[in-house]
Amino acid sequence: MARLQVRRLGYALGAEVTGLDLRQPQDEDTIAAIRDAWMEHLVLVLPGQDISPEQHVAFSRHFGALDPNDATPYYRHPQHPEVLVVSNKPVNGKPSETRNTGRNWHSDLSYTGRPAMGSLLLCKERPDVGGDTMFANMYMAYETLSPRMRQFLDGLEAVHDVTLVKGIEQRSPELVAEIKRINPPIAHPVVRTHPETGRSALFVSQRVRHFVGLSDEESEPILRFLTRHAVRDEFVYRHRWTVNDLVMWDNRATMHVALADFDQSKPRHMLRCSIQGEPLGYIYRGEGATTAQPEATHRTVVASVS
Ligand code: OGA
Ligand code: MN
Repeated sequence: MARLQVRRLGYALGAEVTGLDLRQPQDEDTIAAIRDAWMEHLVLVLPGQDISPEQHVAFSRHFGALDPNDATPYYRHPQHPEVLVVSNKPVNGKPSETRNTGRNWHSDLSYTGRPAMGSLLLCKERPDVGGDTMFANMYMAYETLSPRMRQFLDGLEAVHDVTLVKGIEQRSPELVAEIKRINPPIAHPVVRTHPETGRSALFVSQRVRHFVGLSDEESEPILRFLTRHAVRDEFVYRHRWTVNDLVMWDNRATMHVALADFDQSKPRHMLRCSIQGEPLGYIYRGEGATTAQPEATHRTVVASVS
């Protein structure tokens, strides 16, 4: 078994794991130790991993089946469909469709029926300054709400909508139409019980449109409060990338955001494998929706006056 060193990087979450060489196969005990550290710290940083896509895939598979990237089929690595290319480098002379990936707080693939369990992102090129990624601890977000608020949220569902992915409008119209076709709005529980730790975590993000049974107008201030509360200074870790950092996060208990504070003419090139999660939620077709619009009779009266 590898001699691992685990060093905390943040108060709320994040730890660095050294003593590993992912170019070599890993034994079961090493994987179990990494998994334990992962469940405890939610975000692990494995520095100095100059690995090939094959080695990235092989390591990721220790933690579960890889997501085939069917929800985002356009950004796959040409030779390795399980690897998603998150890069601002032009593709065939055109701006990359993933140059603005992750620009609002989110949990990967929450707009699908199988939100990712975990993601492993490898940095291959980075700008001199900026382009950090921030992570938030969603257990803490939940546990620090008042009991009455938690009671309100328990059992509530939220509608996740791919069209709220920030910057989606910068992608080509054909691509956006296809992304929407593949990913209809989906309702997920607002509070999730983590299957491995048994702890409750808040599961909302900036990709939620409204709560099931509440109108957009009613939901908006509550969502704004929750997404701000979740990313308070005390609940986040900010990662400044070094080339060959492999960072792995648990999407069931965290959110993250890719900051745009860097010179976009400089390359930032990342490769991601996602571990498939359990099926969750259902396609939302307006069940339980209410409306804050005036009654129809009311509107008729107004219309007859105008
Ligand atoms: C992702 C993502 C973060 C980043 O790959 O899931 O959100 O910093 N990217 O590129
Ligand atoms: Mn992401």
